[in-house]
Amino acid sequence: MPTWDWAALAGEDLPEIVAIEEAAHSYPWSEAIFEDCLRAGYRLDGAFSRGQLIGYSVVMSVLDERHLLNLCVDPAVQRRGVGRFLLERLFESARAGGARCVILEVRAGNDAAIALYESAGFTEIGHRKAYYPAPGGREDARVMRCLL
Ligand SMILES: CC(C)(COP(=O)(O)OP(=O)(O)OC[C@H]1O[C@@H](n2cnc3c(N)ncnc32)[C@H](O)[C@@H]1OP(=O)(O)O)[C@@H](O)C(=O)NCCC(=O)NCCS
Repeated sequence: MPTWDWAALAGEDLPEIVAIEEAAHSYPWSEAIFEDCLRAGYRLDGAFSRGQLIGYSVVMSVLDERHLLNLCVDPAVQRRGVGRFLLERLFESARAGGARCVILEVRAGNDAAIALYESAGFTEIGHRKAYYPAPGGREDARVMRCLL
C-alpha cells in the first residue's frame, strides 16, 4: 500500500484544489465556496504525493459531530486508496478532538462514494428527496453517519 502525506490546506492551495474539484465533480464547488469554508474555519486537509495535491476533504465541526462536506480525489489517481486514506486520517483527527460521529450527504447514484463510505462503516440515517441538481432533474441525497 503506498503512503501519502497528509496536511492542512490553506489559501495558497486553492488553485490545485479547484483544478481537482473541476476534474472530479459533475457539479463542482467554485473557488469562492472553498474560500468561504476556509474563512468559516472548516478543516481542509489534503493528501499529497511527492508534494503534489492528489485529494482533499472539507469538514465542519458541530459540537461532537464532524460533517464531511466534500471528499475528492484527483481522477488520475482514483481507486488507489487515496479516498480511504483521507477518511482514515479524518477519523483519527476527529477521535483525537473528541468527536462522536462523522455525518455526510452523498448523491444516491454515487456508487463509488457510497461503496467507500459503507466499507468505512457509514450507514444510512436519512434520505433527502430531490436534494441535488442533476442532468434533466434532481437527485436524492443519502444521509450517512459513522459512529467513531
Ligand atoms: C469517491 C472518491 C472520493 C473515492 O476515492 P478513491 O481514492 O478513488 O477511493 P479508494 O481507492 O480509496 O477506494 C476505497 C474503496 O471505495 C470503493 N470504491 C472506490 N471507487 C469505486 C468505484 N469507482 N466503484 C466501486 N467502488 C469504489 C471500493 O470499495 C474501494 O475499495 P477497493 O478498491 O479495495 O475495492 C472518488 O471517486 C472521487 O473523488 N469521486 C468524485 C468526487 C465525489 O463523488 N466525492 C464524494 C462526494 S460525497
